[in-house]
Amino acid sequence: MYNSIEIKNLKKHFGSGDNEALIFDGADLTIEKGSFVSLTGASGSGKSTLLYLIGGLDRDFTGDIRISGQSISGMDDKQLSYLRSNKLSYVFQFYNLVANLTVEENILLPIELSGRKTRDYLPQLEEILKITGLSEKRKSYPAQLSGGQQQRCSIARAVLNEPEILLADEPTGNLDKNSGEQIMKLFRQLNEQKGITILQVTHSDECAAYANRIVKLSDHRLEDVE
Ligand SMILES: Nc1ncnc2c1ncn2[C@@H]1O[C@H](COP(=O)(O)OP(=O)(O)O)[C@@H](O)[C@H]1O
Ligand SMILES: [Mg+2]
Repeated sequence: MYNSIEIKNLKKHFGSGDNEALIFDGADLTIEKGSFVSLTGASGSGKSTLLYLIGGLDRDFTGDIRISGQSISGMDDKQLSYLRSNKLSYVFQFYNLVANLTVEENILLPIELSGRKTRDYLPQLEEILKITGLSEKRKSYPAQLSGGQQQRCSIARAVLNEPEILLADEPTGNLDKNSGEQIMKLFRQLNEQKGITILQVTHSDECAAYANRIVKLSDHRLEDVE
């Protein structure tokens, strides 16, 4: 058994000289498989940067980041792209749906783009439409959906393939309170029923409280909040 995410002695900065911005300075974090963690911290402290680092999208750091026990520093592009299409998925504040594709076409898009046969995923599509409450909206286009429904569609797209880890960057940041709560309940369900490890960035104490653990980024390090 391994942990989903292990970060040891992470150091990261942007720029150099007078323009240097220090982001991480000896940050450690272990996220056990199957946990649901909220990440908080001041604006500009580096929360989004951490998600990019974990996803292997930014490889300019020192220290160790392990995903499912495997260090990402040692991965080549092929291994990283395997990781991103099979092990971890992202959800962002803005839903990034394709306007001229229907709900179900949007959900299946990553499968199609990775060259897999969408028909092999039809049972998973049915299930995720049900879980996200979008079965009736499957033929609708993004513009015909509320913000909450669009976010649920982007979550369905992110988890269709049952990734081990879901990284969410302020997923409720653009939503009203009620829609935000629905997203949190959906995360809790995906975590409990599908065992997906979730790391979400949030500014809201209410949303943070849906997780089983709250981690704060401050002074360039990561610490548990009691
Ligand atoms: N690609 C980049 N180049 C230079 N500076 C960056 C870059 N990305 C982020 N930053 C800076 O790093 C800091 C942390 O950014 P970010 O991770 O987006 O913070 P948060 O998500 O916590 O608000 C900010 O000061 C931001 O301006
Ligand atoms: Mg951010």
